[in-house]
Amino acid sequence: MSRYTGKTVVVSGGAEGIGFSIARALGQQGMNVVLGDIDRSTLAKAEAQLQQEGIAVLALPLDVVDTKQWHALAEQAIARFGAIHMLVNNAGIGSGVGKLEDASIDDWRWAIDVNMVGVLNGAQCIVPHIKAHGEGGWLLNVASMAGMSGVPFAGAYTATKVAVVGMSEAWAGELAADNIRVSVLCPAFVKTRIHLSERNRQQAYKSNNNRFENTTAAANASGPAQLVEAGIPAELVGLRVVEALDAGEFYIFTHPSHRKHMKKRFEAIDKAFVKAASSPILQGIDDPEITNFV
Ligand SMILES: NC(=O)c1ccc[n+]([C@@H]2O[C@H](COP(=O)([O-])OP(=O)(O)OC[C@H]3O[C@@H](n4cnc5c(N)ncnc54)[C@H](O)[C@@H]3O)[C@@H](O)[C@H]2O)c1
Repeated sequence: MSRYTGKTVVVSGGAEGIGFSIARALGQQGMNVVLGDIDRSTLAKAEAQLQQEGIAVLALPLDVVDTKQWHALAEQAIARFGAIHMLVNNAGIGSGVGKLEDASIDDWRWAIDVNMVGVLNGAQCIVPHIKAHGEGGWLLNVASMAGMSGVPFAGAYTATKVAVVGMSEAWAGELAADNIRVSVLCPAFVKTRIHLSERNRQQAYKSNNNRFENTTAAANASGPAQLVEAGIPAELVGLRVVEALDAGEFYIFTHPSHRKHMKKRFEAIDKAFVKAASSPILQGIDDPEITNFV
């Protein structure tokens, strides 16, 4: 028996990659697993694999942009397992890789809608169901190291992941009263198919797709694809998530080597405060300290 046994987790984008790894690791802890994914063929394979491993699983089609599909998923999850205790907002895509003037509004909207609005949709649909049973639970949002520090030539992706870190910080404070623990997962490169995200681009974001596909294919071939291929195995991420949730970690990291870079960033921010504090323009202003952060 673990603290997860018999409880139910919903994982968006759970058919493969990091989402599948987390779903599997939580299933191994005794959780009922609800996989939601836009790709029906990988979804069916994932469902079969978890079933074979003895994990109770329900696999449902889900485009995280579509609130109706979220509500249908929640209804079916509750009909099958009785209640929902955890949401893993994992579905995400890589979009708009390349120079800032080359990314189209479609590229940006796609990234914002899937990576950011998709997380909001998931939380707005599922969190009320977690609140409803009063036992508390978990909300895990999958951001990225790109959410902790801007990545050149990946403005759209960075913007959405910074947003996910911010939403998680905001919700952690808000949902503590309901005994819902919020965490945010920030991996660097993991060996998945994220560099092939185009396979999941919905029609609504394809108004000038020819230009985009060419640009992305070229940009991916020379950069992100190689980095993703050299990333850590996806299987490790699920195990690390269980370990971190057990320990009540809010920021969940998978690449300790990035600590050095983060330190530099925080030092730069701290130095900027020192500059502001010594500015003659700001002397003597009323600047009350606020401590509402996680
Ligand atoms: N792989 C990395 O290096 C890396 C690093 C940091 C963060 N991440 C984040 O991890 C998450 C998972 O990515 P991954 O690397 O496993 O990628 P992946 O492409 O291997 O898997 C993504 C999954 O999400 C699904 N999906 C895509 N669009 C969807 C939509 N609109 N609705 C529902 N499902 C959808 C896909 O079908 C797929 O199953 C993403 O949020 C990504 O930004 C990945």
